[in-house]
Order: sequence, then structure tokens, then C-alpha cells
Amino acid sequence: MAKYLVTGGFGFVGSHLVEELIKNGHKVTVLDNLSNGHLNNLKHVSKEVMSYIGNVEQLQSTQFVETFDGIFHLATAPRSSSLKDPMRDIESNCKGMIAVLELAKSHNAKVVFTSNSGIYGSTTDGSAINERSINNPTTPYDANKLVSEYYCKIYHNIYGVRSAVVRFATVYGERQVVNEKLNWRPLVATFVKNVLNNEDVMINGDGEQTRDLIYVKDAVQGVIKAMDSSVVDADIFLLSTNKETSVNQVLIAVEDIVEKKARIKHSEPLKGDIRRMRYDYSKAKSKLGFEPKYTHRDGIMKLVEYSRAHLSN
Ligand SMILES: NC(=O)c1ccc[n+]([C@@H]2O[C@H](COP(=O)([O-])OP(=O)(O)OC[C@H]3O[C@@H](n4cnc5c(N)ncnc54)[C@H](O)[C@@H]3O)[C@@H](O)[C@H]2O)c1
Repeated sequence: MAKYLVTGGFGFVGSHLVEELIKNGHKVTVLDNLSNGHLNNLKHVSKEVMSYIGNVEQLQSTQFVETFDGIFHLATAPRSSSLKDPMRDIESNCKGMIAVLELAKSHNAKVVFTSNSGIYGSTTDGSAINERSINNPTTPYDANKLVSEYYCKIYHNIYGVRSAVVRFATVYGERQVVNEKLNWRPLVATFVKNVLNNEDVMINGDGEQTRDLIYVKDAVQGVIKAMDSSVVDADIFLLSTNKETSVNQVLIAVEDIVEKKARIKHSEPLKGDIRRMRYDYSKAKSKLGFEPKYTHRDGIMKLVEYSRAHLSN
């Protein structure tokens, strides 16, 4: 049994990660400021989780009962709000990362940091991006994720802090929610909500922009494999499916599964939006043993089932 801290553990991916760690017999502590996370996400395991409600960037003033073997660092302000509030993004992402690395240094804990494949910007010809591709961040969020990755490297080189970095493709699945206050409208969850509730579906631009969609339980397996691996030098791994799906194709799949036609509206393309995404996960496959198992149809069906049971508006 290991003792883990999960920052952002009440959020979408974090709550699935916590659930899986507990299932694997580990002791888990969560730190989250609930800006986009919900206590309900872990209601079913709440007795097994010690939780601290607070900002990751103020970690140094939190007195933990445990000494941690590992820290999964997921807490982040969403990408969608980073153009509007870049200062806030630096607080959560850059200061948060340094606070996590300082804690890791004092606990001798390994860190797994969840970064974003959006750091690469867009592929022009649809060829798969890999870890050697050129970084081209298009939002403050992506720039701050990249800086945070460098902090992991620096803390390893100077202080010997062990870490691994995973860059997620677009993650979707149960418990991902739309948060209008934070301008956070994740693609699949938004379409499922709109179609189930007979709301207009807004497509930014022509809808031919593509995503590499990874189901949340596949993403969580990759994160755990990164922690369990011998990687300690802040090496970077893409967690993805190496498949391109357009926004229009996602909507068709949702309509098909829900068995309802959507009312579609088009708006201008989003600023900083990425045109094409496809990421090669062969490095994660060979070095971490990562392989996604769920098809898009499986994953979207699970999200629809969950949303039918939980959505009231
Ligand atoms: N979901 C995706 O498609 C995706 C893609 C690429 C990378 N990621 C990364 O994966 C991680 C998890 O993403 P998610 O989709 O679960 O997001 P999420 O918003 O559901 O989870 C983030 C959690 O962090 C908490 N949080 C935000 N700011 C905080 C702060 N300053 N201090 C403490 N807690 C704070 C939120 O309340 C939330 O519970 C993030 O690091 C994100 O950048 C996600």
C-alpha cells in the first residue's frame, strides 16, 4: 500500500483516479479548492479519503497528517478561462506546480504531473504528433503547462525530485461537466447535455476541427502506470488514442446513441482553438505499457448513461 496525494482529486479525471487508487488498496488524500470539482464525485468513497479544501498554490501552509510516497498533480484552472484571466492561470498552474514540487522534495515523493497535448498546437496535414514534435502553445494555459513541465525537470536536475509528465489528449467520460461560470464546455459532455436536454448545439466554426479523444479510464491507467514506472527524470509521455475524430463526427455519435437529432447552430471559430489533433502514444506504450482499451462508442455510451441518471438541466 502506498500513500498518495491527489491535487484536483474532486474534479473529473481526479475523482476517477482516486477511485482506482483506492480500489488498488492505496491510501489517498485529496487537495482541491472545489472551483470546478464536486464533493459528490467521491461521495461513494468519501469515508476512505482524507480531504483538504484549499488552493494548491498555498500548499506550504497546509499541515498534512501523512507523509506521501507519491503526488498526482492534476489541480488546474481550466484552459477555457486562461485567456480571460491569465494571472489566475499562472497562480494555479505555475505557482501550484512549484508548491507541489517543494512538497515532493520534503516528503521524498514522486510526482506525476498531468500536462496537455495542446502544447503542440495544431498538426497541419493530420500526421500524428509525438513527444519530439515542436511545442507551439496557443493559450496561457498551455504555456503555463509547458513551464510547469520545465519546473519538474529543474527540480529533478537540482534537487533529485522524481517525476514523470503525461500530456493528455482530449479526455471525456462520466463526471465531466459543463461549468458556464468558468466558461468550461468540454466537447463530448456539452453535446451529450445539449442533445439529452433538447438544447441548441453550438458548433464553433465548421465543425471539421478534430480531436484525439481518450476515455477517462484509459487516461487514469496511463497516469498510474507513469507513477509505477521507473521514470523519474520528468520525461514526457503522450496519453492518447492516435485517432482523429471531428467535432461533427462526435455530434453524429451522440445523436446516434441518444437516438435524437440535434438543433445545430454555428458560431465563429474559438480564439486559440486547435484545428487538427492526433497524437502518437507509442512511447507510453513501450516505456509505460500504456494502451487505450475503450472505443469512442463505448466511452460515449457510458457518458450518456451517466448523464441520463444525473442531468437535471
Ligand atoms: N480533461 C481533459 O480533456 C484534459 C486534457 C488535457 C489535460 N488535462 C489535465 O488533466 C487534469 C485534470 O483535468 P480535469 O479535466 O479533470 O479538470 P477538472 O477541472 O475537472 O479538475 C481540476 C480540479 O482542480 C481543482 N482546482 C482548480 N484550481 C485549483 C487550485 N488552484 N487549487 C486546488 N484545486 C484546484 C478543481 O476544483 C477541479 O476539481 C488537469 O491538470 C488538466 O490540465 C485534462
